[in-house]
Amino acid sequence: MATAITPRKILVTSALPYANGSIHLGHLVEYIQTDIWVRFQKMQGNTVHYVCADDTHGTPIMLRAEKEGITPEALIEAVHKEHFADFNEFLVEFDNYYSTNAPENKVLSQGIYKKLKANGKIATKTIEQFYDPVKNMFLPDRFIKGECPKCHAKDQYGDSCEVCGATYNPTELINAYSAVSGAAPVRKETEHYFFKLSECEQFLKDWTRSGTLQGEAANKMGEWFENGLNDWDISRDAPYFGFEIPDAPGKYFYVWLDAPIGYMASFKKLCQDQGLDFDEYWGQDSKTELYHFIGKDILYFHALFWPATLEFSGYRKPTQIFAHGFLTVNGEKMSKSRGTFITARSYLDHIKNPEYLRYYYAAKLNSTMEDIDLNLEDFVARVNSDLVGKYVNIASRTAGFINKRFDGKLLIPSTHPSSVQEIKNSAKFIAEYYESRDYGKALREIMRLADLANADVAEAAPWVKAKQEGDSAKIELHWDCSSALEMFRLLSLYLKPVLPKLVGEVEKFLNIAPLTWQSVDDSFADGHQINAYQHLITRIDPKSIEAMTEVNKENLQATPTPQPHSEQRHAVHQQNEVHADLPEVEYISIDDFTKVDLRIAKIVNAEHVEGAEKLLKLTLDIGEGNPRQVFAGIKSAYDPATLVGRLTVMVANLAPRKMKFGMSEGMVLAASDENGGPFILSPDAGAQLGMRVK
Ligand code: MSP
Ligand code: ZN
Repeated sequence: MATAITPRKILVTSALPYANGSIHLGHLVEYIQTDIWVRFQKMQGNTVHYVCADDTHGTPIMLRAEKEGITPEALIEAVHKEHFADFNEFLVEFDNYYSTNAPENKVLSQGIYKKLKANGKIATKTIEQFYDPVKNMFLPDRFIKGECPKCHAKDQYGDSCEVCGATYNPTELINAYSAVSGAAPVRKETEHYFFKLSECEQFLKDWTRSGTLQGEAANKMGEWFENGLNDWDISRDAPYFGFEIPDAPGKYFYVWLDAPIGYMASFKKLCQDQGLDFDEYWGQDSKTELYHFIGKDILYFHALFWPATLEFSGYRKPTQIFAHGFLTVNGEKMSKSRGTFITARSYLDHIKNPEYLRYYYAAKLNSTMEDIDLNLEDFVARVNSDLVGKYVNIASRTAGFINKRFDGKLLIPSTHPSSVQEIKNSAKFIAEYYESRDYGKALREIMRLADLANADVAEAAPWVKAKQEGDSAKIELHWDCSSALEMFRLLSLYLKPVLPKLVGEVEKFLNIAPLTWQSVDDSFADGHQINAYQHLITRIDPKSIEAMTEVNKENLQATPTPQPHSEQRHAVHQQNEVHADLPEVEYISIDDFTKVDLRIAKIVNAEHVEGAEKLLKLTLDIGEGNPRQVFAGIKSAYDPATLVGRLTVMVANLAPRKMKFGMSEGMVLAASDENGGPFILSPDAGAQLGMRVK
């Protein structure tokens, strides 16, 4: 009998997915990572509650509902169903999957706000913001578009340029327009509510140093402290889909205020359903453990705003924040054009078995914030070799003999082969790896043990003994196969957090009670009766992967505007106010490229433009008679006199544009980013004016 240890009481959350997009394979890294940890803790006999919800508030959701001609409530309800079904099929087993647009969340959010206010942590300030005069609403940065002030690319977002990568304020955009109505935005004053984060610095520094964060995350925090903490704007003006701020008519909580409170609300609902004590988990002096699994892009919210909010409203803080990295597919950011922007649903439609993905992610996951790569070829090879070739192989090579020759009854030798003991001895290490989220290490150890078991089976060669005459061959056959199944039982136990469904079938086949970590100490009783062996798993067919990526590409062609994704991406930008998420590559065809007429041009004249801060006026000769006049934003880097006579590259067929200082009839190519520039491009020696660049 194992010593009685008081079970831990643990509350676990995954980040709340936005209710305006589908769950994709990137999201699943997090939900699968969390689910494995929760299942492991439950197998340990701990009391664990795993809650999550849809993150339903904010401008993007409000506008999307409007575009679809439905209410936001109808939109979030439909998405909730979809998300829930996706998670369910990927075997992500929440104890409650709720919504931030719930009464519990409203009560909690308003209550927390009132406590922050009573503690002097709320301030109001009048700020100036862009306003859409047609739509009558204030515009978040991501809903203002215009010409990039740096490279003059059209239709760029209010916070950064997807063409040249520049970041700027929406006020710097040229010819800004509202992405909602197209109208030119005006600037308008409005009163906003702020959480005085600047006053929480000492608390946050102490909290950060108390072992709550991974090393890399703590470093990141250090950077933020160095830059100084700004007060946090927690209000938005109507129209907004969210909760109203008490005693502030027309003002709503910014989505990121009530989103993490959604963790509490989801748990509160669970308490009502199951008679749990909310305060035992969230009270200031709680002795229970609280863990938030999140992606590295939302660390700022969880490591700064969230603990500060909790501290100054009288609640407990998280025990630890577990941040993971981002998913890449075949080494690159998920991409619609490559067919690697794969939704949970399209994976299920094509590959069907969710446990392949659970296994692969687990094999790749560790406790750091490093990105993880889904290499589709490696995925097929790894799953087929480990799960089919190693793990299930142990049973499929031995169970048939027990069923056919021995009526399904096991014969347990007085001493098992040494491998059985070795497999048992690893229980402790494997548990430590799961506990510390080093799933990759856990699975490597389990596969090493599977190799041992397979080597035993190969050496015993039951298929040979089955053909031999005599009692001793028969007994050995019986022992060997029984021992192999004992090893299979132990490996199944170790794999159960990752492969709950498959192992559920194994339990039925072995005719045993649900495996827990305690089951390491059990053994089959002599004469134990197993059930008929049925095929447990099939290999992944590489063709199903091809079909999946092809369909994702086809979808793209059918809908030329990559709307859902770009919308979602903007939502992430807008709602997170972080820019970890750089734009993915959008491929153009060779035809698109050849439309651009690039030429070697000679700068025959260059001069300052009166009244222009950034521009120089260039006269460019491409050997077609009339030289072109081009206004280029390079004044900061070049003395015009030094430019005259040199060759460069120009876009010769850019539609002429009327600018404040005259017509601009092309564009000169120059490199720049936050590290410097602009640097005008020059051809190598030998290039002649007028030559095509291709
Ligand atoms: N709604 C916020 C979270 C609020 S929590 C109080 C949000 N939603 S999200 O849908 O954009 O992302 C949900 C989770 O999935 C986040 O933890 C995010 O980091 C994670 N991932 C989203 N895309 C991902 C990848 N491509 N790769 C790995 N994780 C990713 O953020
Ligand atoms: Zn730009």
